[in-house]
Amino acid sequence: MILFDKKRCLFHLQGKGFSYVFQVIREGYLAHLYWGKKVKEYRESSPLLFVNRGGFAPNPDPSDRTFSLDNIPLEYPAYGNGDFRHPAYQIQLENGSTVTDLRYHSYRIHKGKSKLKYLPATYVEHEHEAETLEIVLIDKVIGLWVTLSYTLFEKYNAMTRSVQFHNKGKENLKILRALSSSVDFRDDQFDLLTLYGSHTNERNISRHPLAMEMQVIESRRGASSLQHDPFFALLRKGTDETRGESYGLSFVYSGNFQAQVEVDQYHTTRASIGINSFDFSWLLTPKEIFQTPEVVMVYSDQGIDGMSQTYHHLYRERLCRGLYRDRIRPILINNWEATYFKFNEKKIEELADEASSLGIELFVLDDGWFGRRDNAKSSLGDWVVDKRKLPHGLNRLAKRIEGKGMAFGLWFEPEMVSPDSQLYRKHPDWCLHVPNRPRTVARNQLVLDLSRQDVCEYLIEALSNVLSSALIRYVKWDMNRHMTEIGSALLPPERQRETAHRYMLGLYYVLEVITSKYPKILFESCSSGGGRYDPGMLYYMPQVWASDNTDAISRLKIQFGTSIIYPPITMGAHVSTVPNHQVGRITPLETRGYVAMSGNFGYELDLTKLSKKEKEMVKKQVAFYKEIRPLIQFGTFHRILSPFEGNETAWIFVSPDQDEFICFHYRVLAVPAQPIRILKLVGLNPDYLYKDVNTGKVFGGDELMNVGITLPIEKGDFLSHMWRFKKYN
Ligand code: DGJ
Repeated sequence: MILFDKKRCLFHLQGKGFSYVFQVIREGYLAHLYWGKKVKEYRESSPLLFVNRGGFAPNPDPSDRTFSLDNIPLEYPAYGNGDFRHPAYQIQLENGSTVTDLRYHSYRIHKGKSKLKYLPATYVEHEHEAETLEIVLIDKVIGLWVTLSYTLFEKYNAMTRSVQFHNKGKENLKILRALSSSVDFRDDQFDLLTLYGSHTNERNISRHPLAMEMQVIESRRGASSLQHDPFFALLRKGTDETRGESYGLSFVYSGNFQAQVEVDQYHTTRASIGINSFDFSWLLTPKEIFQTPEVVMVYSDQGIDGMSQTYHHLYRERLCRGLYRDRIRPILINNWEATYFKFNEKKIEELADEASSLGIELFVLDDGWFGRRDNAKSSLGDWVVDKRKLPHGLNRLAKRIEGKGMAFGLWFEPEMVSPDSQLYRKHPDWCLHVPNRPRTVARNQLVLDLSRQDVCEYLIEALSNVLSSALIRYVKWDMNRHMTEIGSALLPPERQRETAHRYMLGLYYVLEVITSKYPKILFESCSSGGGRYDPGMLYYMPQVWASDNTDAISRLKIQFGTSIIYPPITMGAHVSTVPNHQVGRITPLETRGYVAMSGNFGYELDLTKLSKKEKEMVKKQVAFYKEIRPLIQFGTFHRILSPFEGNETAWIFVSPDQDEFICFHYRVLAVPAQPIRILKLVGLNPDYLYKDVNTGKVFGGDELMNVGITLPIEKGDFLSHMWRFKKYN
């Protein structure tokens, strides 16, 4: 419910479990009052906000030394009027000045949620699912209208924020900074939680106390990146998985972002997130509008798990879209680690025969099927089948794979061009570049300039040609380098710093067109693994190749960290060969299976090289995953033991009605003189009886959660266990 108290001009967004309150004060300033556990009514009146701190505090009203913008929590802080903390936005005028002054003008509350033009965002299917509040602020001197949008998803217990800048004045304005959300907390008693990583080592959890400083995570790479997820959470001291307060801010964007947490001189905390203002500006000519991407904000008083549950449900049901949103996902075999670039029709068919006999449902042909791509040095951009490798073309191959009872899927890296390609020779100005400078390659490739409409249209046509030419039921959309020399041949000098964001708008446009044109295709995004694992991509592609690291032990951390925000159904996870290609580790096939089964399951190895025993095991794994798939993909996922805190990892998947569950436990290294270890389950119904599917033994839900399961004592490294229970009447 969104409540408006006219007398106090106070807005109260009241979710299922949280309240978010702000108020118009004095001469139209917007003061932030509260974000936290739900209160029935917010009675505290604004004077309590003001703290009389004279020293160095600028006073907009000379007759009142108690009022200073630097001393109060603000909703969308400006630069230059006396608040010395970092601003949420900054605009440059034609006279060169960068001071603006937004004051409250009006508000509107309406049912539902409007689409964000050209940007991915959470959505509603029915108007009653959400309510939206729009606050209009105006800078009268320049005719700048700014609309702050807040949507409350009552059922999901979440809210979103975004901002629109509308130039209704006569002069050109230059946006130097336009963050999507800024929140002021009255104290600094928090830990900051972020997800960081690198290629093959994505989404590690970092948690540390706030200090008297500015802490920033960001991307300047032209993609949300492997290095930092566009997300952070503030956790109250002592918050753990199930207890304590967490405040999450997750940015629905796939490009450069900045997330900042500033603790000021009085120990208040300002937390904000949005498009990175580094190397960014946007020329807003009269009548033009600039829309920021949205931020999804989640408060939980039930620990980190409480916050994750909200993100999982909202992202699975109201961010992901399309046919596959509510459909179980196929078990796939990908040929990448089996063959890399070296394959031909015969090899692919052999792999497919083997996969189909084991019950696998989808065959994915990875990199190397087009142009003359025998290695990573050429052909990106030339999306024409390589007849040397596949003499009968894609359609016949797809049909033959269908004939074996499997669907056929294909890899693309649409956003790139190899200097050694027909496309680059024909259109050397179609890549990102700046005049008189070399074009820096990475993995021998350049980035296509998707800020250009003509390049976007070419891409749509090139992809459509392939997708319409064969029975393709799945696409892996890869992206394997970051941006350098960010500039566009078509943009005027004053708009060059718009290139990176215009690229994202172009990419979103291409994705919207392609995914709407081929609604039956399942799209999986990838960026050297999880390099663009962000909510923006999930809006178009409901699953992501979580990491190029397929080692089961490394994956424990990767999948655990990923689950802080993203639900398991979105995590591509494959069983690969041993020794593992990324880290050289040898792990049991059972453990590899149990780790990959905890996500969106598949295989990525040469099945023809497995022993008879291994093949039998794979067949059993595939059959087993088919049985438990609805539970894994649509159940509730809880973390139990963290790989970041010790030798063991455990997690559990519980069905939505709590009628069944499956729990996995992994121990990395063998422990001498092993002490007794108890695993206490979570998320069960304490009043239900549950029967162990393997042993037939019956336990109460309360017993399993409070007394727990005694873990077996075994010898060996990298061992794992699985327990599956069903409700017993
Ligand atoms: C990077 C991806 O993450 C891999 O899975 C594979 O598709 C390669 N690219 C192919 O070049």
